[in-house]
Amino acid sequence: AAPLKVGIAGLGTVGGGVLRLLETQAELLEARCGRRIIVTAVSARDRTKDRGTDLSAVRWYDDASVMATDPDLDVVVELVGGSDGIAKRTVEAAFAHGRHVVTANKALLAHHGAALALAAEEKGLTLAYEAAVAGGIPAIKGLREGLAGNNIREVHGILNGTCNYILTEMRTTGREFAEVLADAQKLGYAEADPSFDIDGIDAAHKLAVLTGVAFGVTVDFAAVHVEGIRHISSLDIEYAQELGYRIRLLGIARRTDQGIEQRVHPCMVPIGSPIGATDGVFNAVVADGDFVDKVVLVGRGAGAGPTASAVVADLLDIARGRSTPTFGVPAGRLASLVASPIDRR
Ligand code: HSE
Repeated sequence: AAPLKVGIAGLGTVGGGVLRLLETQAELLEARCGRRIIVTAVSARDRTKDRGTDLSAVRWYDDASVMATDPDLDVVVELVGGSDGIAKRTVEAAFAHGRHVVTANKALLAHHGAALALAAEEKGLTLAYEAAVAGGIPAIKGLREGLAGNNIREVHGILNGTCNYILTEMRTTGREFAEVLADAQKLGYAEADPSFDIDGIDAAHKLAVLTGVAFGVTVDFAAVHVEGIRHISSLDIEYAQELGYRIRLLGIARRTDQGIEQRVHPCMVPIGSPIGATDGVFNAVVADGDFVDKVVLVGRGAGAGPTASAVVADLLDIARGRSTPTFGVPAGRLASLVASPIDRR
């Protein structure tokens, strides 16, 4: 079969991870989908940086949205980030030119997920985003496909690796907030603007996307109540421990009589619970379905390898010609169903 031709927009931590994974696992991936997955175009600001792989044969672009119009591409992998601007233009250009899109961009999906899903659907294209929520955990596929036979009652979890890393390190090493945050940035976990992590915005982006998948509603970021971890002190963490609890930043979405409630805030959870036991950069997603009961998924929520793992899973789906509606139901149907959070009254 003809190879799947991929253009990667953005070669930072995640983009570098995707290049390495595609190269290291080339044979394995070909065995799994029956064709080669090759990178034919990239866009990145710095062309000289060593990314550990030979990029001399690929076409380079300065502007990702121009790369998306390259005539010799099947898929655009959008790793630029940001809810608007170049990332949005790139995804729109890809759909306009008949290319599938794989993105890790939760901010973009939180703000424009419904409209972009509709744009993809109208053209019979795929908008895939496993990497956008909970890093390497197959949370999207798990909820949307594995639990498709259930009414989901609630989904909640640790959705920001940077915050969980900070809270864990403060507890286990006694180090200060700012010092640990600097570490998380060095390790490539934090957002370009780390206030998105510590103020709960990144977790809220992911929760809004997860809510769309879990409940089959329009992604509605404005409906999420958001509170971060800036005000949590080492003393808070110590007191919680004495009482048998951990402090975690949780995203919670649940069906209520008033509609779907979505909130992100620090919570005290029992030390022995799955969420309480999830330390460091790990994320955890707990889904509660009416037939399956509770399902818990735990794994690394940030970093090059785990995020690349999720991006490549989406590429394999596309290489196999396998497509699932973006949010589990036809996008045309989503428009009529808007999350109606109780916090918005
Ligand atoms: N800054 C994010 C986190 C990256 O720490 O979870 C993964 O989306």
